[in-house]
Amino acid sequence: MNKTSQNKKLFIRTFGCQMNEHDSERIAGLLIAEGYEICQNPEAADVVILNTCSIREKAEQKAYSELGRLQELKQEKPELIIGVAGCTAQREGEAILKRIPSVDFIFGSPNIDKTAELLKHAIQQKQPAVLVDYPTRPPITLPAVRKDKLRAWVSVMEGCDYRCSFCVVPTTRGPERSRPSREIISEIVQLADAGYKEVTLLGQTVNSYGKRSDEGVDLADLLRMINDIPGIERIRFTTSHPNDLNMKLMTAMADIPKVCEHLHLPLQSGSDRILKIMRRGYSFKEYRSKIDMLRQLIPDLGVTSDIIAGFPGESEKDFAQTLLAVSEMGFDGIYAFQYSPRPNTDAASLSDHLPEKVKEARLKQVIDLQHAVTNQRNQNLLGTIQEILVEGKNEKYPDKLTGRLRINRVVHFSGPDNLIGGLSWVKLIQARLGSFDGELLHA
Ligand code: 5AD
Repeated sequence: MNKTSQNKKLFIRTFGCQMNEHDSERIAGLLIAEGYEICQNPEAADVVILNTCSIREKAEQKAYSELGRLQELKQEKPELIIGVAGCTAQREGEAILKRIPSVDFIFGSPNIDKTAELLKHAIQQKQPAVLVDYPTRPPITLPAVRKDKLRAWVSVMEGCDYRCSFCVVPTTRGPERSRPSREIISEIVQLADAGYKEVTLLGQTVNSYGKRSDEGVDLADLLRMINDIPGIERIRFTTSHPNDLNMKLMTAMADIPKVCEHLHLPLQSGSDRILKIMRRGYSFKEYRSKIDMLRQLIPDLGVTSDIIAGFPGESEKDFAQTLLAVSEMGFDGIYAFQYSPRPNTDAASLSDHLPEKVKEARLKQVIDLQHAVTNQRNQNLLGTIQEILVEGKNEKYPDKLTGRLRINRVVHFSGPDNLIGGLSWVKLIQARLGSFDGELLHA
């Protein structure tokens, strides 16, 4: 018998954000170290783990319907072990068992380092194992097995100490904890040795990195350290909170060669009245002046943002201010969401929730407006010459290659396969909403 057929098979399905995607890479890393092997569908698996998202109600519904399907699969295949990880697991805990009794183990995002123990416990004890406490220890280095071979996510801090009234994250991810810088640096040195060219530092409020640790290293310092690692060509970080975007970080972004000219900075609303009820801690004017300052330092900066449409009590006038803000800011793109009430958040118990239809219409309006803004921004970029990191063949058009600009936009172009994995230069010749066509510049 060969080794492969002896290995137990693991299938992981991930819902939600980049941190969840990366958590799944770390769960995979932990279980591969225990002898598991990744497979591509639940039917072929001995163990299935759903890594869930909780940010909006729809995300939770999706996870529950997937769990319903897995429960049916388990009727045909009773030895199947089902695990629920991530934010819904953390938030719901044992309550998941009431809805889906055939789940074998449940663990929240702050406890992924315990994955292997919990799985063993579930298998040996033949009863569900549940771990959803909130550790205060700094996140420890876990052996991630990454899908991408060029661009890597690296968790630098986890949790959130803000209390935005709409947001479930503090209860799903726990308090803010930063990893020691030397562990982050040693992980990135290993990534560089393995051929990775780009790292994206991850954290729920990544730019408050170090605030709660006594090491005295903040994100700006960390970026400088990573800049010195040979082999790494590009550094990104997400998601930032406007309140932690200070002059030191802005200067670092402008000065440090490998830090890409892109910032994702959620605005959420253009109305100061709503921002206050959201408890964001800034006014639109303050947000705008920070971006203005950064654009002075980095003229070709790409900025993306998050917007919530239809927060409780949002009047026509408040929403008009959001539309005005979106057209004024000239974002490269936004992620816009319809407000979704979340359990144990202050906004959920406000009295003036808007009808679904109004929320839907406002969401559409802000997305349509952003499309026009993006088109305008694209026109301004046409004809410019830009550096790209060549990621691979285009999925839709295999005769083309796909790369990414430093401002994080995608470019398709014709060129030889040996460019894959390296930096090249292209001229942007045509723009679509989500990508550009480029022309390769030969040296
Ligand atoms: N409803 C809708 N969108 C939300 N977000 C966070 N909580 C909610 C909610 N309750 C959005 C915010 C945040 C992004 C990750 O998700 O815009 O920045």
